[in-house]
Amino acid sequence: MKGKILDHVYEAIGQTPIVRLSRMTHALEGEIYAKLEYLNPGFSKKDRAARAIIEEAEEAGLLKPGQNVIELTSGNMGTGLAIVCAAKGYPFVAVMSRGNSVERARMMKALGAEVVLVDQAPGSQEGQVSGEDLRLVELVTERIKRERSAFRADQFNRQGSVHAHQYGTAQEAWEQTDGKIDAFVDFVGSGGTFGGCARALKGFNPDIRCYVAEPFAAPFLAGREVTHPNHRIQGGGYGMTLAFLDEPSLVEDYVQVTDEEAIRVARSLAAREGIFAGFSSGANVAAALQLLQGRERGRNILITINDSGLKYLSTDLYASEV
Ligand SMILES: Cc1ncc(COP(=O)(O)O)c(C=O)c1O
Repeated sequence: MKGKILDHVYEAIGQTPIVRLSRMTHALEGEIYAKLEYLNPGFSKKDRAARAIIEEAEEAGLLKPGQNVIELTSGNMGTGLAIVCAAKGYPFVAVMSRGNSVERARMMKALGAEVVLVDQAPGSQEGQVSGEDLRLVELVTERIKRERSAFRADQFNRQGSVHAHQYGTAQEAWEQTDGKIDAFVDFVGSGGTFGGCARALKGFNPDIRCYVAEPFAAPFLAGREVTHPNHRIQGGGYGMTLAFLDEPSLVEDYVQVTDEEAIRVARSLAAREGIFAGFSSGANVAAALQLLQGRERGRNILITINDSGLKYLSTDLYASEV
């Protein structure tokens, strides 16, 4: 309940507004409804998953008072966990690739987390975290987990990642739009947002079409050839099999977005709509624009604005031309 004095900051997670992107869609038929997840306390949608995973683990007796919590993170999940763990009194260890932007590590440290940075695989580039880079982070995460008998938040597998969006994000969006949603599209990382929203939306109305967005040169989930696994859309597009996408009936189709498109649209989102967000939010809006110009012409498409542009000030997202 945001209207009252809260006892803990994590109670301020969720209940985010939805904005119609009226300026970016004015020449098109149909609407894009953008749910502003960057207004969460950790400035990303992953706060929702962090809170749900911790609270479900507490309820199941999997997490004991004072136990270490550990997670492999591209930064946003770690920030969400750092916030929830700080407020609940769990020591938190974030393990992250050096390929992610430096703001994320700084923010997690400021929130009391211990941050372990893992070097990228040979040939990887800063700002482009590949599946191979993530596999290296995974090895370190599992080692520290064993050493500390830590609880691993495991955002790629624990159902809290899905439930947070199924009972939170999608439920809120359904009420905020009076059910006027025809389609949903999401640039996928763990698939928690996609899986949760698609499940809920299809439950409300089975005719709602849900699309997975992927990097242009790495359409792994679409089952197409991955010509270039490294890309710049931080937070997803890892080119790996996802537990949360195990229900093919939820996926209408796949949409591909180039780095340049995601960046151009993120800049336009800031300059024209006043919404200052990251690469993957640009990818979501770009994918929705593609759909509005194609098979979802004239429809209402729901997307999430995943995190704040403030997390990318050390990158060239808002610094120079692509
Ligand atoms: C900025 C950003 N975009 C997109 C995603 C992908 O979300 P999900 O893991 O729910 O698929 C993440 C996940 O960490 C993220 O941090």
